[in-house]
Amino acid sequence: MTTTQQHKIGSGFGAHSTAADVLAGIDLTGRTALVTGGYSGLGLATTRALAAAGARVVVPARRPAQALRALHDIPAAEVADLDLADLASVRVFADRFLDTGRVLDIVIAGAGIMACPETRVGPGWEAHFAVNHLGHFALVNRLRPALNPQGARVVSVASSGHFLSDIRWADPHFRRGYDRWLAYAQSKTANALFALHLDALGAGSGLHAFAVHPGSILTPLQRHVPHEEQIAQGWITPEGRPAPGFKTPEQGAATAVWAATTPLLAGRGGAYCQDCDIAEPATTDDMLIGGVKPWVRDADAAARLWTLSSELTGVDAFA
Ligand SMILES: NC(=O)c1ccc[n+]([C@@H]2O[C@H](COP(=O)([O-])OP(=O)(O)OC[C@H]3O[C@@H](n4cnc5c(N)ncnc54)[C@H](OP(=O)(O)O)[C@@H]3O)[C@@H](O)[C@H]2O)c1
Repeated sequence: MTTTQQHKIGSGFGAHSTAADVLAGIDLTGRTALVTGGYSGLGLATTRALAAAGARVVVPARRPAQALRALHDIPAAEVADLDLADLASVRVFADRFLDTGRVLDIVIAGAGIMACPETRVGPGWEAHFAVNHLGHFALVNRLRPALNPQGARVVSVASSGHFLSDIRWADPHFRRGYDRWLAYAQSKTANALFALHLDALGAGSGLHAFAVHPGSILTPLQRHVPHEEQIAQGWITPEGRPAPGFKTPEQGAATAVWAATTPLLAGRGGAYCQDCDIAEPATTDDMLIGGVKPWVRDADAAARLWTLSSELTGVDAFA
């Protein structure tokens, strides 16, 4: 199998582009998007931009009341209950959506948690792997019948956090000792591998998938990282301002929205993107610079993760 080459294609956009910039001139009237986490941080900026371009935006939420408050000024956004940590909740949400007969043109799998204290969900699964990866795996598989056969795109919001860990095949649930950063990193590697294999499976049926690193953006995602640690990491100044190189939420939403809509990615399915372009192979370990590490471009690992995820969740729409 050949995979899309990881080299820039010259999109004309970059790190400073916003979601509104990349959607200028794109009319999404009549299109429906689903944005997990679409009521906070990058997701909220994503929902706002897609709605401004004419799309209906379905926002599944584990805190629907909070989501309704956040989205009150976006009439094209609609909220429904979904907890990605709970596969029964994923099934109920997907069944209800499928019952409506509606078609999905875009799915942006953006919900996520980072650097949480050790948390177990479902049958004792590590929470980052379960929420960031397995929940989205089950959701997209269950929603497959709703994906537009004329061309749907799934965008998996990964991260340069993937630099820190491949999939821990021998211990994906950290039963032999927990590390909150490795747990986040593994889940973000999983997000990228998910897109790679989903694209391989879906390409024949008009479905394409992409992974994106949004950049570094101060959002509620950092809620589990103490202020002092954020200063030490170089994320914020001692006064609490974003460090140089950080993006606004509107800039952070741009790459996912670009990957979901740009004609430039036709024929380039499965690509890992950053700064509104295909990412180059990483040449440093500096996550602020980013790029893509080889283990998230490994088609065999992507297929192996698919099999593992299918066994764990009991779902595989492509079997
Ligand atoms: N911010 C960055 O610098 C950065 C960098 C690289 C990658 N990313 C990725 O970008 C994505 C969005 O991050 P963000 O910065 O926008 O964070 P955020 O503001 O914290 O948003 C995350 C969203 O995910 C939702 N969520 C968490 N657990 C959930 C669950 N069990 N079920 C359903 N929804 C759940 C949250 O809901 P609640 O509000 O109800 O908790 C929230 O709406 C994440 O995947 C993150 O890994 C972010």
